[in-house]
Amino acid sequence: ILPGSPDEAKAAAGELAADLIARVVRGKPDAVLGLATGSTPLPVWSALAARDLDWSRVQGFALDEYVGLPAGHPESYRAVITREVVDTLGLTPTLVHVPGDDGGEIATAGQRYEAAIAAAGGVDIQVLGIGRTGHIGFNEPGSSFASRTRVKTLTEATRLDNARFFDSIDDVPRHCLTQGLGTILDARALVLLAFGEAKADAIAGAVEGPVSASLPGSAIQLHPEVTVLVDEAAASKL
Ligand code: GLP
Repeated sequence: ILPGSPDEAKAAAGELAADLIARVVRGKPDAVLGLATGSTPLPVWSALAARDLDWSRVQGFALDEYVGLPAGHPESYRAVITREVVDTLGLTPTLVHVPGDDGGEIATAGQRYEAAIAAAGGVDIQVLGIGRTGHIGFNEPGSSFASRTRVKTLTEATRLDNARFFDSIDDVPRHCLTQGLGTILDARALVLLAFGEAKADAIAGAVEGPVSASLPGSAIQLHPEVTVLVDEAAASKL
């Protein structure tokens, strides 16, 4: 739990997450990072950008992507990851992957993505945010803990939360591709970040609640190597 103002806590959490990632990258030049979108991980990327690290061989796999947006849409997670992570850190673009971005059929994109992660040697460290519904990636309540990358339907709550990035709610896609909870749990280490009062219930459920598919974030309790970084507001229901 990081003390201080919301901005101070975010910056401090970003530095701590950057420490964990930097240690992995220094020890393994072709490390595999699990990348997350959303506002939450932004302090991680800015803290990492200030470090002296060689990103040229580092690989990246994003957690999730919308299905049905026109190619190149600025709010596609492909575009967001390129803008916020690849360009910020100077990652090699061809080493960074987003579900469904290989141009193949959507129905089998999950299997191809799983195969690509396996071929890269598995994710060394996965950055996670958490949704108000307790989702990680786009694994909404009810997702199986054994799930792998697949097409899912977004909940209304998540579509409403994400409507701020689109002109109207009608423009928010209804489907997505997301790594499964089983995929996420296969990463060698997890770093979950959350800030603000709106995440307090999700964090309490993920960290202290029963391990249950009704709160997908609670799957982290099954992982042996997890770091949770929160501000006081997100920690207020622990
Ligand atoms: C999005 C993403 C999640 C993210 C979450 C929280 O829908 N698919 O990976 O963790 O919502 O977003 P934010 O960090 O902006 O609150």
